[in-house]
Amino acid sequence: MRARPSAFSPHLSATGSARRLVLRGAASAGLAALVLTAGCRQDMQHQPKMFPQRGSSMFPDHRGARPQVPGTVARGEFHEDSYFYTGYVVDAQGHREESNLMPFPVTMTVLKRGQEEFNVYCSACHSRVGNGVGMIVKRGYKPAANFHDAVRMAEPVSHYFYVMTHGYGAMPDYRAQLPPQDRWAVAAYIRALQLSQAATVKDVPPGTRIQHLKEIAAEEHLPASFAEPWALPATAVNAMPPVGSEGTPGMAPAHAAPPKITIPLKKPLPATTQK
Ligand code: HEC
Repeated sequence: MRARPSAFSPHLSATGSARRLVLRGAASAGLAALVLTAGCRQDMQHQPKMFPQRGSSMFPDHRGARPQVPGTVARGEFHEDSYFYTGYVVDAQGHREESNLMPFPVTMTVLKRGQEEFNVYCSACHSRVGNGVGMIVKRGYKPAANFHDAVRMAEPVSHYFYVMTHGYGAMPDYRAQLPPQDRWAVAAYIRALQLSQAATVKDVPPGTRIQHLKEIAAEEHLPASFAEPWALPATAVNAMPPVGSEGTPGMAPAHAAPPKITIPLKKPLPATTQK
């Protein structure tokens, strides 16, 4: 009995046949690619299709690109013209009016969110207590509004929403940083701040120990000035004329009384003509 040679060298014979297979495979794949691409190119080149910004005989207006349907709203951008998004109500004469209503219930969560966002975005100028003497003002910015003066105390809550949405005089808008929900939360927190700074003994539940700020300052070894009203530093600027050469915009003075916003309603969209 003789053993077959291939049984003694299985490894060698296996690599030999694999090489042959690879060569044969490569040849047929190359051929197939040649045939396929030649055919494809012809079909794709000559099929009817639309070129952007070029005419077309397919539509009556001969435009290749289709115009947008008037009034189209992108997905997720459908902001109904409601109080929640605009901060104003429309009166019988079609005028926009601010209102003292919150569009959703004010819970502790809402106030905490408002406090967080106020401290991040507003306190730099208005200070954490909202008296308008923030760090930026101390270093030479226009005095930011004091939320505890008679004018600001009398403003309806949606005025704050409106100022955050559109900016006000030297103050930039915060629409991009704060979505409507957060702008309302900040407005509610400003109201809470106003209440906190104008609180009287009557607002405190009976039996609660009342401590004057001066006592706290003494206990904490803080200077007596800690409990005194904050003074505007001499570095704070007042209404500045625009400096064209430096590119600084003029700063509009804050109004003594808030302007009543009376912008007529937008005209309805013109009726669309369809061919
Ligand atoms: C870069 C500084 C700055 C920041 C930050 C800032 N403000 Fe102001 N704000 C001002 C200045 C300055 C004024 C006064 C505007 C003027 O007189 O031109 C003002 C005025 C206001 C007023 C008064 C408007 C009126 O009717 O008189 C409100 C309300 C207000 N800011 C709210 C906010 C809120 C809320 C934020 C945070 C989201 C904020 N501000 C962030 C600088 C700032």
